[in-house]
Amino acid sequence: MPLTSKPLAPDTWPAFARLVEKHNGIFGGCWCISFHLEPGEKRHGAAAYRKMKEALVREGRAHAALVFDGREAVGWCQFGLTAELPNIRSKKAYERDLSELPDWRITCFFIDRERRGEGIASFALREAVREIARLGGGTVEAYPEEYGEKVSSSFLCSGTLGMFEKAGFEKRRKIAMHRWVVARRVPSETAGRRAKSDVNTASREVDVALRVHD
Ligand SMILES: CC(C)(COP(=O)(O)OP(=O)(O)OC[C@H]1O[C@@H](n2cnc3c(N)ncnc32)[C@H](O)[C@@H]1OP(=O)(O)O)[C@@H](O)C(=O)NCCC(=O)NCCS
Repeated sequence: MPLTSKPLAPDTWPAFARLVEKHNGIFGGCWCISFHLEPGEKRHGAAAYRKMKEALVREGRAHAALVFDGREAVGWCQFGLTAELPNIRSKKAYERDLSELPDWRITCFFIDRERRGEGIASFALREAVREIARLGGGTVEAYPEEYGEKVSSSFLCSGTLGMFEKAGFEKRRKIAMHRWVVARRVPSETAGRRAKSDVNTASREVDVALRVHD
């Protein structure tokens, strides 16, 4: 069955929750909350994080491209406005040479452990970029890892440098031994549609003008 994706939202929450429960809460109960927390914020347990995540999803303050194979979710790529995801790794080093915060961040991936190595994370990344375009586009940053060899997949929750370069991101600076800041601008989907319709209108106007002159 071909993969599809849907935004993480109240209607897809049950599929997301099934995938997290299948993996014991992810890292023993993270529920994909850690990048939402303010650095230094008091830590809680799995039950509290599940509630927090569900509330954020219901309020439209948690985003992800959720990948489906049929009715079951098999992975996701988390993204969000920078204010939604304040808690990136290597934050001190990141802030040292920071000139401007991006509009959006792509912070983490999770793929069903039975489905890794099939290109699902790369697909999820493309879908997250499409979703950012649908939501208005802007500057997007991510913080992937570069190891140059096979490593434990839990080291790669922010994705690999190669995945991002293939998706049009450029290296900006290194913030840890293996961690990069990468960035790209994503145009708004509506701006694209408007440009297309402007071209169509312009070509209709040229058509009319030519007919008037004939
Ligand atoms: C890392 C992870 C997202 C990769 O997902 P995936 O669907 O298997 O990845 P893909 O098949 O799309 O491969 C993407 C790239 O990653 C590379 N990659 C995947 N697993 C790798 C590993 N263990 N070591 C090195 N590279 C790896 C692939 O070779 C591929 O590289 P390429 O683009 O240069 O060909 C997945 O293993 C995972 O979910 N790990 C757990 C992450 C986690 O703990 N998240 C918790 C949330 S914080």
